Amino acid sequence: MAGSLPTISGLLNARRPGHSLPAGLYTRDDVFEADMDVFFRRQWINIGLEADVPEPGDAYVVDIGDNSLILLRNDDNEIGVFHNVCRHRGARILDAGPNMIGKLVCPYHQWTYELSGELVYAPHMGQDFDKSCRSLKPVNFVSVGGLVYVCLDDNPPMDIAPLVETMEARLAPYDIRNTKVAHQMDIVEDGNWKLTMENNRECYHCAGTHPELCVSFIDLDFGFDPASLTDEDRKIADAHQALYDQRTREWEDAGYPSALVAQLADCNTNFRTQRLIMAGAGESQTPDATAASRRLLGTMTRKDLGDIHLWGHNCWNHFMGDHAVTATVIPLSSGKTLVRTKWLVHKDAVEGVDYDLEKLTSVWTATTRQDADLVARSHAGIKDPAYTPGPYSKFTEQELDRFATWYVDVMRANGY
Ligand code: FES
Ligand SMILES: [Fe+2]
Repeated sequence: MAGSLPTISGLLNARRPGHSLPAGLYTRDDVFEADMDVFFRRQWINIGLEADVPEPGDAYVVDIGDNSLILLRNDDNEIGVFHNVCRHRGARILDAGPNMIGKLVCPYHQWTYELSGELVYAPHMGQDFDKSCRSLKPVNFVSVGGLVYVCLDDNPPMDIAPLVETMEARLAPYDIRNTKVAHQMDIVEDGNWKLTMENNRECYHCAGTHPELCVSFIDLDFGFDPASLTDEDRKIADAHQALYDQRTREWEDAGYPSALVAQLADCNTNFRTQRLIMAGAGESQTPDATAASRRLLGTMTRKDLGDIHLWGHNCWNHFMGDHAVTATVIPLSSGKTLVRTKWLVHKDAVEGVDYDLEKLTSVWTATTRQDADLVARSHAGIKDPAYTPGPYSKFTEQELDRFATWYVDVMRANGY
């Protein structure tokens, strides 16, 4: 008789420290449902940007599992997030993606809501019908320097505060709220969302996979085994570390927060940010590492302030003097994950005048496609019965061990 499948908590208990997760945690549908509940309902997640809705009346609908969320900008120029569920009989009000609206009109029976969510029109419901208790349900949200995070739970984790505080200061001169989305690319990766995140948290694969990114990216920043370097490479690594220390001091002294800030264990809200030196011309993640936009972001006057990266558990971001690249990760099923990448420039930057779209987007377009291929390979191998969890490098994959440990801890804290 075939043995019964282990429980989810059995899979969590089977995870060996320093190793990738047991297969079922990546592949099983019941684990996917649990992940959606724990990591995409009860935690703060990134859903997009204030810049997705630049003008009053702009709305952007993001679907997360069974939830559909309307991010909008109201007539007072304020951001709001509402459940995309009509308070009459529940119909979806807007379709996924960008919308331009004066009011929110349900297509079913035309119940009509202000951009504040207030129900203002509901015909044939009788004189005693109380519209005031039928507003659209609001969603808890916070803008982290222009990045919109939501929490679908009634009691959102309080430990988002360090993320907000850190990034508001760090992003202030970049004024991400006043950027425009110059380009967006959606890719559905054939893999579990945790593989998407793991792949993003290591640069072990960068040299072998990302020739375009490696023009500006320095994989030494993400760890190496000193014993495996040649004498010459060792000198390069030492020189890079000295330069990183010097630049970080200079940047901090000039008022640009740069040092590593991270919250990766014993927490709900998982993030890491650091300002890193870029290689070559050192300005931007472009084919020649020079700026793609001559109109710099916000109040920036310097192109030599490196790359601020920010990771969350469903996003990664790079902020440079001339542009930013953001990626939001939305699981679709146990084996499919949407990666939504956006390239941001100053809101007044003009394509063809201030920036060249190809130069702006080519590095992360190539990199994201390459990563999608790696994630699909990884997921396919993990589904193979021959897979057993393998060891993470303690030099180059320590962040994956932390991520897997955080994942198991948060699952357990939520009753699994
Ligand atoms: S379901 Fe929206 S108006 Fe009826
Ligand atoms: Fe990659």
